Amino acid sequence: MAGLVVAIDGPSGSGKSSVSRGVARELGLRYLDTGAMYRAITWWMLREGVDVTDAAAVAARAGEPELVVGTDPDAPTIAVDGVDVSGPIRGPEVTGAVSAVSAVPVVRRRLVAMQRAIMDEACREGAGIVIEGRDIGTAVAPDATVKIFLTASPEERARRRAAELAGTTLEAQREALARRDRLDSTRAVNPLAKAEDAVELDTTGLTLDEVIAEVVRLTKERTS
Ligand code: DC
Repeated sequence: MAGLVVAIDGPSGSGKSSVSRGVARELGLRYLDTGAMYRAITWWMLREGVDVTDAAAVAARAGEPELVVGTDPDAPTIAVDGVDVSGPIRGPEVTGAVSAVSAVPVVRRRLVAMQRAIMDEACREGAGIVIEGRDIGTAVAPDATVKIFLTASPEERARRRAAELAGTTLEAQREALARRDRLDSTRAVNPLAKAEDAVELDTTGLTLDEVIAEVVRLTKERTS
């Protein structure tokens, strides 16, 4: 592959989005938030009144929503059937339902195919891409230039999420993260997992700039 592919995986609250956008900016790459794609499909299912706990019902409609994803790290966008859903996909309804929807194999097949097409285009037409998610190093981009698995202590992750979201408590975030970790790590298809050849980076106690600098250093090391 001609372009650079930086694969960044890790659990919620590990700092993936801020780190990925910072690395993309610094290296002049495109940026893809695959979690936003799972969230957008979930938003559509909820709007359509699909029972998200019924995997067959989700699978039956998984091909319908039309997703359009923008990959500018300074202004990533996501639209479903022409509606900008950047805001609503971060709400509690979508956050509570996304693990169930993303566990449905047909949903994953469709989104992984889209993610690979976006990656190929970024490599063909530009310098490459930073892709963040749960299964990038293991399933979406097994040949990525560099694979990073970001972690942080459960306490720190809950603290970061509580600081981001209004009207929540540390305890509520601790519980929500533990639930999502359990669901995302134990699903049958492409669970959250560290690729064997990924570098694990514990971000607890590090500043955002320190983590970005380390990922940029690791990427340059692989390409020099
Ligand atoms: O990164 P995030 O919290 O926005 O991701 C939302 C959900 O999407 C997460 O709970 C699991 C799912 N997801 C996934 O299954 N595979 C990915 N590559 C990215 C996200």
